[in-house]
Amino acid sequence: MATLTITRLGHQGDGIAEGPVFVPRTLPGEVVEGDVADGRMAAPRIITPSDQRIKAPCPHYRTCGGCAVQHAREDFVTDWKQDILRHALSAQGIEAPFRAPHISPLHSRRRASFAGRRLRNGALVGFHARASDVLTAVPDCMILHPALIAALPMLEELTAREGSRKGELTLSLTISEAGLDLAVTGGKAPDGPMHATLGQWAGQAGLARLAWDGEVIAQEQPPFHTIGRARVTPPPGAFLQATKPAEAALQAAVADAVGDAGYIADLFAGCGTFALPLAERAEIHAIESDGAMLHALDAGWRQAVGLKRITTQTRDLFRNPVLPEDLARFDAVVIDPPRAGADAQAQALANSRVPAIAAVSCNPVSFARDAKVLIQGGYRLNWVQVVDQFRFSPHVELAAQFVR
Ligand SMILES: C[S@@+](CC[C@H](N)C(=O)[O-])C[C@H]1O[C@@H](n2cnc3c(N)ncnc32)[C@H](O)[C@@H]1O
Repeated sequence: MATLTITRLGHQGDGIAEGPVFVPRTLPGEVVEGDVADGRMAAPRIITPSDQRIKAPCPHYRTCGGCAVQHAREDFVTDWKQDILRHALSAQGIEAPFRAPHISPLHSRRRASFAGRRLRNGALVGFHARASDVLTAVPDCMILHPALIAALPMLEELTAREGSRKGELTLSLTISEAGLDLAVTGGKAPDGPMHATLGQWAGQAGLARLAWDGEVIAQEQPPFHTIGRARVTPPPGAFLQATKPAEAALQAAVADAVGDAGYIADLFAGCGTFALPLAERAEIHAIESDGAMLHALDAGWRQAVGLKRITTQTRDLFRNPVLPEDLARFDAVVIDPPRAGADAQAQALANSRVPAIAAVSCNPVSFARDAKVLIQGGYRLNWVQVVDQFRFSPHVELAAQFVR
């Protein structure tokens, strides 16, 4: 049995004591007691609690791995997320002014991936415990939009019908303006009869669309999202920002960062989260590796009224970044890569003359690495902003502006 003092909070939300020993769900300054194995105190008893400690508001917190820091005050969590970004930048020798953070409200999460497992009687749908295959039902989750919570019995019904007791279904559910949009993976491949019964079931369940392993099985009406002045129907399971308020905050940050640029390249453009609102005042060239997402963007743009021209290009920006000579025609670039960052594209941007770059990232470490490349190429990091759309989790989303 050891007695330890927590000195800092790690990137995954664990308290860390000297050693290092990782102690889940503890806070800096706390004195804890328990057995240590493999550098971890799995079941700490809190001897001296931090004054930042609160009672976790969610009844699922003990067993659900979706949230990591519900036991700390909100201001503390926001400061911690900003510090994660600050430290990632300082590890690359970078300092930058921080804009006031955005924090998405509770119950605003509009899309989520649940795991579903068939049981002897019925089914269990929910989130995994941390680093575990144990599932927890989350009917009182504080993050999810009420429409997602209301859909949990429907997901259980589907899992009881089509799931298995050996494997899990992944149920990606998104709230669209035409109703719920469900994309399922991991089950047995649907044959003809299963197609028919699932199609019928989706209608009865009131889904706008049901896709299975990427194939649309039923579509009562095309699910759509209003992005700027356009209505976009994304391909099943496609990326969208996790909450509407965070999407709006990121769009505002990006619009501010590109200023009055007349011709903008939107790199890693997805279905047009940034391209479509920016097209109200600028011409856009949107590049993305997923052709179906670009098709959705293009179809939305064609039906919208009063937007400037958007052209699209399907391209792998890791292997085939836009080169400095081709970047020369743009007045600004928006870049929003996946977690891995945009190493090759950052190198090309660093050698370009593009006056302004709006960067969005879900990974402070890869962002800071790319930022260093840009700064070495002559850019200045004008500001960064944390956009907390993953409340209580260790994820940090951010926006930033670079200028020459
Ligand atoms: C974080 S999402 C951003 C999408 C969009 N900007 C938005 O906010 O909705 C990253 C996007 O990069 C795309 N992507 C992933 N790898 C890529 C690659 N190698 N080249 C181009 N695009 C890629 C993904 O398909 C995804 O749409």
